[in-house]
Amino acid sequence: MTVQHAKLNGWVKEVADMCRPESVHWCDGSREEYDRLMKQMVAGGMATPLAGRPNSFLFRSDPSDVARLESRTYISTARKEDAGPTNNWIDPGELKTAMKGSYKGCMRGRTLFVIPFSMGPVDSPIAKIGVEITDSPYVVCNMHIMTRIDARVIEKLGADGEFIPCLHSIGAPLAPGQKDTSWPCAPLDQKYISHFPEENLIWSYGSGYGGNALLGKKCLALRIASAMAKREGWMAEHMLILRLTNPEGKWFHIAAAFPSACGKTNLAMLTPTIPGWKCECIGDDIAWIKIGPDGRPYAINPEYGFFGVAPGTSYDSNPSAMDTLKENTIFTNCALTDDGDIWWEGMSPAPAHAIDWKGRDWTPGSSEPAAHANSRFTAPARQCPVICPDWEKPEGVPIDIFVFGGRRASVMPLVHEAFSWDHGVFMGATASSETTAANIGSVGNLRRDPFAMQPFCGYNMADYFGHWLAMGDRFGKHAPRIFYVNWFRKSPEGRWLWPGFGDNSRVLKWMCERVEGKVGAVETPIGLMPREKELDLTGMDIPGADLRELLRVDPSAWKAEAADIERHFGQFGDRLPARLRRQLDDLRRRLG
Ligand code: GTP
Ligand code: SPV
Ligand code: MN
Repeated sequence: MTVQHAKLNGWVKEVADMCRPESVHWCDGSREEYDRLMKQMVAGGMATPLAGRPNSFLFRSDPSDVARLESRTYISTARKEDAGPTNNWIDPGELKTAMKGSYKGCMRGRTLFVIPFSMGPVDSPIAKIGVEITDSPYVVCNMHIMTRIDARVIEKLGADGEFIPCLHSIGAPLAPGQKDTSWPCAPLDQKYISHFPEENLIWSYGSGYGGNALLGKKCLALRIASAMAKREGWMAEHMLILRLTNPEGKWFHIAAAFPSACGKTNLAMLTPTIPGWKCECIGDDIAWIKIGPDGRPYAINPEYGFFGVAPGTSYDSNPSAMDTLKENTIFTNCALTDDGDIWWEGMSPAPAHAIDWKGRDWTPGSSEPAAHANSRFTAPARQCPVICPDWEKPEGVPIDIFVFGGRRASVMPLVHEAFSWDHGVFMGATASSETTAANIGSVGNLRRDPFAMQPFCGYNMADYFGHWLAMGDRFGKHAPRIFYVNWFRKSPEGRWLWPGFGDNSRVLKWMCERVEGKVGAVETPIGLMPREKELDLTGMDIPGADLRELLRVDPSAWKAEAADIERHFGQFGDRLPARLRRQLDDLRRRLG
């Protein structure tokens, strides 16, 4: 492939001179390229072809390299305050010096792949081009699924088109004759996932997993894009996008932000349990939103595939995801059954024997799960049976409703609606969730995860809150309505109070009817909530006591919540927008 882009060619040469790969390969995104790399990885023992799922493969990562690494992720701005209190920061000069030391000779014995990709449909005015350099063929194959890689990207780049350079190395050079391992990577304390938002640059070193390595996703589409969006007046959000069609045929487009492993993929592909309603998926993880010519917010999904959580995915919980995974799918850290298929906890009854994600024999009752809790599938979005026919529309879809949420065993009700835009921004800014296996670290700890962007905001979070307020001012009468949901409230015995999944359509229906002014709500200190009779519970046998608990607002628990929000806001000092402080004062006043 010949590319006439002096800056791009210069960057590739500079990286090759530093990393010293054995060869350089420019990726064209073709099926032939994918097949050839997979064949090599199968031969090398890194990938296992699956029986019964055409063109699908299982990978097992190194047990130390299983999820995103927030503790090794950096936002490197000239001034520490511009990264803000929620990000790790190192001075750009210092970080680059340290990383250049690591990158020196780090691709010895390997191929350097150059991947020009588009985030978003190539012809979309909202799309951006990135170029990832990586020494991992696993990353190349995943990028084939997750991003658009084809000749039109090179054409659009032309001689001097803008692109975001994304440098990735697994950090595992091979000495002459050295045998490769099945998942080469660097030790934890040598890994870096670094972002230089002031120069739209990404440097990742040492990890081959997910958001650490597929740099179009969290690094570009959220951390770098959020900083660009702030500068340029648009939004880059950790949100699914779905279209709901009511029985009269009216469309509602919903964008929802939940933290990692808190239900975005599931909601995006939901099968409504209420008759006459239809849900179609536009995206399951990231939304880029710009104001359209009519003043409304329009969203595109910048991705081309799903990198979804495997455990819990089943024909009961998410049949559309299961059907998406029938072919052309990469599975990472799932279990392997004796008949050569994959399995994970919650998918189906446990097999009598399997090979677990660490490659060991596994039988039911074993002390460890067969699949890693953050095991994932990488699958083309077009294979989703409920993918929206308009999912690749260059101009995006107009958003009617924003939803925030998280995983809370108590306190947070099933749903509440914001009184106003500012109150909705307050809900987003104070969103909280129990931590999950999507990040390396402990699971189940309550933390604030504002807008589900705590790990993904590429600049000072207080300024990001301000950007949301400013965007609301610009949306004016077109501002989407804002809601907050919690599918994860539990009984004292630890049982889910809400069945979730397809039944979440009942909550979405209430939201749509609120937008249309068709249904009422009761005013509580924390927001507007449905009365029991205002939720469509037809055909559902939820115990009355469970429903009351799901819709219960406990003022004393909320006073404690307000005190915690005060602490959360405190970290931003006087950079916190006064409009949010006012919202906290108002909440306290309503709580009495
Ligand atoms: P990321 O890809 O990490 O951003 O995750 P996500 O937000 O897309 O989460 P996903 O939909 O993959 O769900 C994560 C886990 O939560 C899975 O095990 C799901 O089965 C479970 N889950 C999703 N929705 C619900 C729900 O409504 N109720 C319950 N109880 N569990 C759910
Ligand atoms: C998340 O953690 O929110 C994910 C998975 O979507 S990763 O791509 O690893 O960030
Ligand atoms: Mn995500």
